[in-house]
Amino acid sequence: MPDDETVGSPAGEGSPQATRDLRAGSKRAGISVPAGGGHDATWRPFVNPVHLDEIGSTNSELLARAAAGAPEGTVLLAERQLAGRGRLGRRWLDHPGGSILCSILFRPQMAVELWHLAGFTVALAAIDACRETTGLEVACKWPNDLLAGADGRKVAGVLAEIGADRALVVGIGVNCNWPAEFPPEGDEVAAEIAATATSLDRVAGGAIDRDALAAAMLERLSERWSAVTGGERARAHVMSEYRGRCATIGRAVRVELPDDETFTGTAVDVDDRGRLLVDVGYCIRTVEAGDVIHVR
Ligand code: BTN
Repeated sequence: MPDDETVGSPAGEGSPQATRDLRAGSKRAGISVPAGGGHDATWRPFVNPVHLDEIGSTNSELLARAAAGAPEGTVLLAERQLAGRGRLGRRWLDHPGGSILCSILFRPQMAVELWHLAGFTVALAAIDACRETTGLEVACKWPNDLLAGADGRKVAGVLAEIGADRALVVGIGVNCNWPAEFPPEGDEVAAEIAATATSLDRVAGGAIDRDALAAAMLERLSERWSAVTGGERARAHVMSEYRGRCATIGRAVRVELPDDETFTGTAVDVDDRGRLLVDVGYCIRTVEAGDVIHVR
């Protein structure tokens, strides 16, 4: 896979990202909430998403809205991203109308060391929603990739970014419905994606109702986040639930660190700070950020 790609859903015919000015795309439809808030009395955090047609990146847009004063619980959902971003500086490609492309604004009233809980909470809410609306059991690959199917292929990824004034934006991209002809013949980028990723419809064997899945994910997120902000026990519980869903624990892994160092070992745990613990034979290494490949 090229270094600047990340597994996601396809870029669509002719890979529009390659041919358009990526900064130009922000044609919007259905915006119901002004950038700085201004919600009506029925608005509830997390469960009243703003629907966008086309945007560069929902994460970038939400970081801008956060800087303009948007409140916690502001959520953007886009049909299509022209400059979707993945972890570690990679791109996130989507097939227009086939994914959930969602960003959620948190303003955590807790120590920065605990902010990782937001990403894990979003991943767990997506797992809940998959079970509830598709019947699929989805697992996590550390830190927040979601895997589905017998061979554990990536169906979703999470990108958390910190903005000004204690803003934390967590974006999630879920591959829901891939076209039958994906990857198109001769499209190397698409072939790279399809080598390790898949879509929920392919695993479920039928079309996924994106609206139902997104709505369930946001409801579960709202419940889970109120629990997390409610106390220490609930916070500890999130990480223990995460560990129960984490397919990385117990696996032989190759870890690629952001500084290009690579090592192998056995993933033995994820601590309450969200760090992966890897037994490398002579010691346990603690991984804060990086890419993990399940090697067996
Ligand atoms: C990963 O690399 O696995 C994380 C991918 C995160 C993609 C989502 S799609 C919605 C949001 N907007 C972005 O630009 N990225 C995230």
